[in-house]
Amino acid sequence: MAAVTAPSAAVLRAQRLYRFFHAGDEEVVALCGVSVQLAAGEWVAVTGPSGSGKSTLLQCLAGLDEPDGGDVWVAGQRITRRPDTDRARLRAKYIGVLHQSGNLLEHLTIGQQIRFARRLAGQRHDAGVVDRLLGAVGLDGRGRALPGQLSGGEAARASLAVALANDPPVLIADEPTGELDAFTERAVLSLLAARAVAGTAVLVASHSRAVTRAAHRVVELHDGRVHQADTRTADRTADRTADRTADRAADRAADRAADRAADRAADRAEDGGTDRGTDRTGHDG
Ligand SMILES: Nc1ncnc2c1ncn2[C@@H]1O[C@H](COP(=O)(O)OP(=O)(O)OP(=O)(O)O)[C@@H](O)[C@H]1O
Ligand SMILES: [Mg+2]
Repeated sequence: MAAVTAPSAAVLRAQRLYRFFHAGDEEVVALCGVSVQLAAGEWVAVTGPSGSGKSTLLQCLAGLDEPDGGDVWVAGQRITRRPDTDRARLRAKYIGVLHQSGNLLEHLTIGQQIRFARRLAGQRHDAGVVDRLLGAVGLDGRGRALPGQLSGGEAARASLAVALANDPPVLIADEPTGELDAFTERAVLSLLAARAVAGTAVLVASHSRAVTRAAHRVVELHDGRVHQADTRTADRTADRTADRTADRAADRAADRAADRAADRAADRAEDGGTDRGTDRTGHDG
């Protein structure tokens, strides 16, 4: 029987996910053996061309879609291959989701949606939570607005506030800054960074360079496969290796200089203090 507890301490972990779609005789391989994992406080950007499988991956990670192969674990519990009600319960408790098309309900105000998301997750009533969340996304005082009364960018930020309503350990956001101007995008990125610092595992699919620059790690998808598992980590590793090599070379040079100085001092002592101040070049090298 398959294990129901996670095989690692990662707060979000996907193992070899496959997802196929069929349209007539055509088969689209949206995900082909994709594995990712995030620790608490880690912020990962998923990037790649349009149609490369980013949204499909995020839907599978959030338990909104069932992969055709592979498993997903969230906070130590398997979310795949379980009844819809179990998946919804796990999602409400552990995952904040921001969909590419937004996640707002048309007939509820933003404040009602934040409170509703909290009730679904069994959170206690907190009178200040709506103001705090809306303040964090730059929408002070808009709790009574309906989604239809917000601009595209405001709706995107309101969606993020709803996704964060439960202070979830995992935040999965699909193009959270897609409709934002550069200034508002920076504000949202600061908010995501603050969430990661507070311990939330943040996974964001995006085409935005600003998002990939701000993330700790980048996973790039091409045709449903992980293309280059983390170029920036690879760069950092290369930098660290170069630093260590330089450090070792400097250490060796310092050791050689110290040896030479010690040799010269010993020679001077043997010579009874003669030749003081002269350089015995024969010892160098
Ligand atoms: N429900 C579906 N039915 C059929 N094909 C689908 C479905 N959902 C996704 N696909 C296909 O799967 C592939 C991956 O789609 P996905 O939405 O994951 O891409 P994406 O990387 O998010 O693209 P974008 O950057 O445009 O949002 C695409 O070829 C898409 O047409
Ligand atoms: Mg997408």
